This record gives sequence, structure tokens and C-alpha cells, in this order.
Amino acid sequence: MEHNDMIKQTLIDSKAIAKRIKELGKLITNDYKGKDLLVIGVLKGAWVYLADLLREVDVNAEVDFMSVSSYGSGTSTSGSITIVKDLSVSVEGRDVLIVEDIVDSGLTLSHLKDLLYSRNAKSVEVSTLLSKPSRRRVDVEVKYIGFEIPDEFVIGYGLDFDEKYRALRDVCVLKEEAYQK
Ligand code: IMP
Repeated sequence: MEHNDMIKQTLIDSKAIAKRIKELGKLITNDYKGKDLLVIGVLKGAWVYLADLLREVDVNAEVDFMSVSSYGSGTSTSGSITIVKDLSVSVEGRDVLIVEDIVDSGLTLSHLKDLLYSRNAKSVEVSTLLSKPSRRRVDVEVKYIGFEIPDEFVIGYGLDFDEKYRALRDVCVLKEEAYQK
């Protein structure tokens, strides 16, 4: 497969991902039963995770998407985010669950949470498939974490490098040579 040439190793395979998502789905179902839940997927990376997660959540949730950019084509972080696509619904008075692919420095999430609270959301919690705790630059609470991973650049299951590799079924570590070129 064309994808394989830049993969160093598989970090989390699709079976393990599916198993963990079932567990998270149950937790989220329990916490939001009977509530007016608005799920916000952060594009582009979160769409694969969001699709699988929501089908394990037994709550009648509304879904919307936001697109924010904090990375260019490289692997280092910038200190702020830009809203590329905003929500099409109001968050006022609503219980919001942000769905992220990965929390790295935490800056994107921290900005997003502040923004949603400033728009008077009732509650804002977060589910991320992946978290790199060793990279955190701001202290931001993430309630539903799929997997904590080491400080390596990962691709697949929605995550990209230079807009590629999002459709890989597993979460894989990218070969260093891909970004040292
Ligand atoms: P943060 O603001 O540093 O937490 O970065 C969050 C965003 O950076 C994620 O939503 C991803 O788009 C991107 N990102 C961080 N680490 C990785 C990675 O290992 N692979 C792919 N994208 C990443």
C-alpha cells in the first residue's frame, strides 16, 4: 500500500481503537443521558474519531463542526489559533462536548474552551482520541481520553502529515525522514 512507505511503526491498531471507543461511548452516554448535548468536531483531524465515537453514544446529540488552524505543513506548534470555519449553531445554555483528534500542547483546546464559554455554553467538556501529556504547555482539563501516547508525531485515523495519511485505519508513527526533508 502506498501509505506504508512513511510509517515507522503501528502505535495503536484499529481493534484497540474500537475497543476503547466503546468504553468512552458508555461513559459519555451515562454523563449526558437526558441532556441537550451539542457535539463539536474539530476539523479536520477529528472526523474519523467523531464518526466512530458518536455511534457508541446513546444520546440524541446534535453535531456541528469547527475548523481551526494551529499548524502549517510542519510539525511544530504556533501560539494561537485562527477560526477557519465557525459553528453554525449557538452554544448558549448548552452542554457541549468538543471532540478532538489529539491534544498536544493543549493550546488549541484551551483557546476553544475559552471561546465557547465566552459564548455562554453551559458546560464544555472534551474527548480526544489521543493525548501527549509530555508536550502540554497549558493546563487544560480533558475528561475523556482515548490513549496517552509518547512524544512522537503520529498519523492515521484522521490525523495527517501535510494533509496525507488521514485514512489509515491504525494510529502510526511517522518516519522522521518525512519531516526532515
Ligand atoms: P495543540 O494545540 O498543540 O494541542 O495541537 C492540537 C492540534 O495539532 C491537533 O488537533 C492536530 O491537528 C495537531 N497535531 C498535534 N500533534 C500531532 C501529531 O502527532 N500528528 C498529527 N497532528 C498533530
